[in-house]
Amino acid sequence: MDHFLYRDGALHAEDVPLSEIAKAVGTPFYAYSSATLLRHFHLFNDALAWSKPGHLVCFAMKSASNQAILKLLGDAGAGMDVVSGGEYARARAAGVPGDRIVFSGVGKTREEMQQALTGGIRQFNVESEPEMLVLSEVASAMGVTAPITVRVNPDVDAKTNEKIATGRKGDKFGIPISRASEVYAMAASLPGLKVIGIDVHIGSQLVDLEPFRLAYRKVGSLTEQLRSEGHEITRLDLGGGLGIPYERSNAAPPSPTEYGKLIEEEVGHLGCEIEIEPGRLISGNSGILVAQVIYVKEGEDRRFLILDAAMNDLIRPAMYGAHHDIVPLIEPAPGAEPATYDIVGPVCESGDTFAKGRTMPSVEAGGLVAFRSAGAYGAVMSSEYNTRPLIPEVLVQRDQFAVIRPRPTFDDIINRDTIPAWL
Ligand code: LLP
Repeated sequence: MDHFLYRDGALHAEDVPLSEIAKAVGTPFYAYSSATLLRHFHLFNDALAWSKPGHLVCFAMKSASNQAILKLLGDAGAGMDVVSGGEYARARAAGVPGDRIVFSGVGKTREEMQQALTGGIRQFNVESEPEMLVLSEVASAMGVTAPITVRVNPDVDAKTNEKIATGRKGDKFGIPISRASEVYAMAASLPGLKVIGIDVHIGSQLVDLEPFRLAYRKVGSLTEQLRSEGHEITRLDLGGGLGIPYERSNAAPPSPTEYGKLIEEEVGHLGCEIEIEPGRLISGNSGILVAQVIYVKEGEDRRFLILDAAMNDLIRPAMYGAHHDIVPLIEPAPGAEPATYDIVGPVCESGDTFAKGRTMPSVEAGGLVAFRSAGAYGAVMSSEYNTRPLIPEVLVQRDQFAVIRPRPTFDDIINRDTIPAWL
């Protein structure tokens, strides 16, 4: 569910007509609904309320990392899952305390470890033995103890897009669950580390709960095994990955409530504090991308809708073949004839295609359209390819909206480059 609905024939973000935002900031732009962001966060938070030792929903901020979004969620009590020094700095700048930040990722550098140990960290999710050795060294040299979980790779197929499945044995993530015993023994023997739990994350955009069940069951057995080997396992970080309905016409994927129940069934009896790292389900349907039709072009055997947004603004269709529903800002009249288009951007490669053969309400040059479900992995994955300025981000709350990242000018972009003195 989201807060982008037609009202009096015009698509709104909460109580604001999107055409009004378009007038104020120009197109293309991203707009987010505060109510949807908070609603999804609270759904997860409530779904884990059964956990007596406590729980923390750590927003995977790689999905949407604007300061305003982080502050909104952080103020509501969310923790953050960060994967770089930059994300750590962003989370702290948005006011999220270190003890609500978990650090994930296969390639943490010494500098990033020092940064997090200095600023405060809830835990590192360690992904390999070499990383563990380095963290032990860094923490010892600083005279502090780094709380850690070890990310295990449970060898479970998440049944999602190849590029975003992370829990099969050939994937680069975590340590093989079969070797967990020796890796935990190693962790216990190293100075500067305190083992507190287990971490797992099997992939993104999962629309079936079964892979989660398989993975969490394995984590449950591992918890018991590690405890019998003398380790104190008090926290389980169960990752993110719950999917969203990109196509309104499809059946809705499992809800955070069902997901929370599954977690309780599989690991609730262990008495561990529960952490999860959802990104997409919090931010995905909370954001849309609004673009303008520049031309409607008749091709040899098809009709192209050429938009002012391109693959540099939203890379998901080009990169993953991802589907985004695209709708006009003006609600089509009942019974209006739909049209079929290839929907493309102005970038100079054929990969700059948002949809092929898409049947949708007919639109004309100058008309505005919205890409739904673009709040996750949208703005954060955008670039300035073709020297197209990063597009503005706007946050809506009821009847008010604010630009939370302005559109840079051409000078802003050009002046970031410097010309060497010898030229
Ligand atoms: N935790 C870890 C360790 C992750 O690697 C990820 C996502 C998440 C949590 C959050 O997963 P989510 O709840 O958002 O599914 N760019 C791709 C998605 C990449 C996901 C990477 N890791 C896309 O646009 O579909």
